[in-house]
Amino acid sequence: MSEILVTGGAGYIGTNVVNALALRGEKVVVVDDFSNCKQKYIDKLKNLYKGQVECFSFSFGDREKLESLFKTHNFSAVIHLAGKKYVQESNEKQELYKLVNVDMTQTLLDVMKEFSVKKIVFSSTAMVYGNVMPCPISELRELSPVSYYATTKLMAEKLIADFVKTSKGQGVILRLSNPIGADDKLMLGDDNLAKAKPILPYLLDAAKNGNKVVLNGNDYNTKDGTPVRDYVHVCDVAEAFCLAVEKDVEDLEIYNIGSGNEGQSVLQILQEVEKVVGKSVDHSFGERREGDVEIFVSDNSKAKNDLGLKISRDLNDMVLSQYKFLEETQKKSTK
Ligand SMILES: NC(=O)c1ccc[n+]([C@@H]2O[C@H](COP(=O)([O-])OP(=O)(O)OC[C@H]3O[C@@H](n4cnc5c(N)ncnc54)[C@H](O)[C@@H]3O)[C@@H](O)[C@H]2O)c1
Repeated sequence: MSEILVTGGAGYIGTNVVNALALRGEKVVVVDDFSNCKQKYIDKLKNLYKGQVECFSFSFGDREKLESLFKTHNFSAVIHLAGKKYVQESNEKQELYKLVNVDMTQTLLDVMKEFSVKKIVFSSTAMVYGNVMPCPISELRELSPVSYYATTKLMAEKLIADFVKTSKGQGVILRLSNPIGADDKLMLGDDNLAKAKPILPYLLDAAKNGNKVVLNGNDYNTKDGTPVRDYVHVCDVAEAFCLAVEKDVEDLEIYNIGSGNEGQSVLQILQEVEKVVGKSVDHSFGERREGDVEIFVSDNSKAKNDLGLKISRDLNDMVLSQYKFLEETQKKSTK
């Protein structure tokens, strides 16, 4: 039976992808060096899907170990999620980001070529478009990454395009918008939030603990003056990876994976948080944050039409699942 290799499969998106693949009956092999995740989430999946999910702990840039793995497994495809993902850190640690996101991706592609594994699905970011207007942004829009993180993702996209050409393989690049939320049944989420400081856990925490919050700017040209972003539930994103790995593509295809709606403003998120937690958030407005654009929403119609992408979870599902996940992880960490 063929297997699917998932690099970074023990991480936030990775565990949700592994779960979605295993539910479809796939055999999944994870390579993760555990540099940005805890062991317990992938262990849960290994226990749940006995014999169907394997996990190896090493860096995907370690060519020797990767070759041994490819020798002993029969991979039909690779889903490549391993990488460094923090925007601010990427600007400070450019060498590390280039090494992991670009050079190690080249090693992975070289090993795939050596073992004639032809198909790769790559987890890229909508940040490769940069701060462009007007929205929604289709895959044909020019690329102009602003952060070093997005620059390395674009470099990796180019390596994949090259791999597809030279090995007559298949490549699918998914440019993700803002995945949030969690699988609130298996409790698979992101509990590694300190570096990213995402808005949703920040507001949930404030609602729960009665903290005051300052929101960055309410004078943007949007429906309520606060910035608008394209949030998408991580479980919908995980399904998109399954669809991408199943899709027979000609050579290289690129898809935006976003909500397909007009996006959600900071105030809309805040209102949903208040509804879910049942408490109001004491908030005020401060200065705009440097570099923030008023609106970023991608056009997901290509993914809907070609891949059959379904966005079946709404803002309430995202906020509620994130809340349940945070409650669960906080309960455990205080025990
Ligand atoms: N979460 C987002 O908002 C978002 C948005 C767009 C794109 N992406 C991309 O999707 C991918 C997964 O994101 P995530 O949010 O699950 O991040 P994550 O950090 O939770 O997962 C990445 C995983 O890769 C592992 N890893 C890092 N370096 C490694 C190495 N050298 N060898 C083996 N494993 C390594 C980490 O331990 C982690 O488990 C990343 O490539 C990221 O750039 C994420």
